[in-house]
Amino acid sequence: MAKRLGIGLIGQAFMGKAHSNAWGQATRFFNLPLEPTFAHVAARDQNCLAAFAGRFGWERWSRTLSALLRDPAVELVDIVTPNHLHAKQALAAFEAGKHVACEKPLARSLDEAKQMLQAARKAAGKGQKSYVWFNYRRCPAIGLAYQLIREGRLGRIYEVRASYLQSWGGPGTPMSWRFEKSKAGSGALGDLGAHLVDLVRFLTGEEFLHVEGAASRTFIRERSLSQGLKPSKAGSKTSKLQTKGRSNVDDLFGFFAGLSGGALCSFEVSRLASGRLNQNRLEIYGDQGALIFDFEEMNVLRFLDATLPRREQGFRRIMATDTSHPWVSAWWPEGHLLGYEHGFVHMAADICRDLAGESPELPLPTFEDGYQVQAVLDAALRSACEGKKQKISKA
Ligand SMILES: NC(=O)c1ccc[n+]([C@@H]2O[C@H](COP(=O)([O-])OP(=O)(O)OC[C@H]3O[C@@H](n4cnc5c(N)ncnc54)[C@H](O)[C@@H]3O)[C@@H](O)[C@H]2O)c1
Repeated sequence: MAKRLGIGLIGQAFMGKAHSNAWGQATRFFNLPLEPTFAHVAARDQNCLAAFAGRFGWERWSRTLSALLRDPAVELVDIVTPNHLHAKQALAAFEAGKHVACEKPLARSLDEAKQMLQAARKAAGKGQKSYVWFNYRRCPAIGLAYQLIREGRLGRIYEVRASYLQSWGGPGTPMSWRFEKSKAGSGALGDLGAHLVDLVRFLTGEEFLHVEGAASRTFIRERSLSQGLKPSKAGSKTSKLQTKGRSNVDDLFGFFAGLSGGALCSFEVSRLASGRLNQNRLEIYGDQGALIFDFEEMNVLRFLDATLPRREQGFRRIMATDTSHPWVSAWWPEGHLLGYEHGFVHMAADICRDLAGESPELPLPTFEDGYQVQAVLDAALRSACEGKKQKISKA
């Protein structure tokens, strides 16, 4: 029987569900050297936490991180809380001797990311591991793109176009932590741009050197406080209920960035792109070939082989659902499609392998990667603010 890995989950909403599903499915579909167990979940949602724990089989639940950290069954702390809590929670988890897997973006700011990286490096000396949930790395079509680039099929990369467009952030969307700079750090940039920056680093194997030409827009500056109306002045006896909250993060953001191999990348992220639901799209152009990935057709990779005679050239539509494609052999017969949740399952499975000393299917994102991504986001914010080219800060 596989040795057990006790998971402690902090947070239980959108990502709480995705991660709970992932830890459970990983062990059902993959032969793993470690079996994740649902040791403890902690979150603030008092009225639904017990039901959530029951539905996914969490053995214990509590409302505080400290209770979770005191639980000796918890070996890995999985952080799925809003961004402003990541640093505090990761630092406490490392201090308590646990491995940490944290949602993206790693932090709200580069300073916070630096503290987290330093704590992760110190913990690594004691055998503790760190991971960041850049789940799009683990789509089979992205895995295939990674392999083709490593095999030199694109040759020298000249250009990357990366865009992540969503449409849910219009004026009708009520206020939440995602629209507050003090909680989120930034808007579409950190939320969506973090995934893109990680994907480009992962696929090309190159580092970003600088950012230029960044531009940020905030169109919707007030949102309804449909949940949790607040008194207008804290402590005031006569205060009226406030019905609107101030949204002070970017709704959309664009910038250019230079890679160490010389390629120029354009990034475009938006929560206001009507008709685009979750279009995480990459186009990578090299002198020997080109690749296109679009998450709205996540099982497909488009590949152009520029070494073929010109009359035969054109983008091939490859369904990445063959058993020869990364992670696919654990699932269904070819052509039986995978979805959003599979990226998380693949990451959970690869974490179990990594913690047992086995190789993950493809490299896992660590706090080192989370920091590098944050450094690019930080340079983009500086470039938008100062209107100048900005170097990427080193760790
Ligand atoms: N990888 C992805 O594709 C992806 C997608 C969505 C969100 N995320 C990231 O996941 C994280 C969580 O996002 P979400 O969409 O699940 O948010 P959410 O608002 O749906 O859920 C947040 C959870 O954190 C809990 N929480 C809040 N404050 C807490 C506290 N002080 N102590 C304990 N629990 C607390 C809430 O009770 C809730 O369960 C964010 O960092 C976000 O950027 C990643």
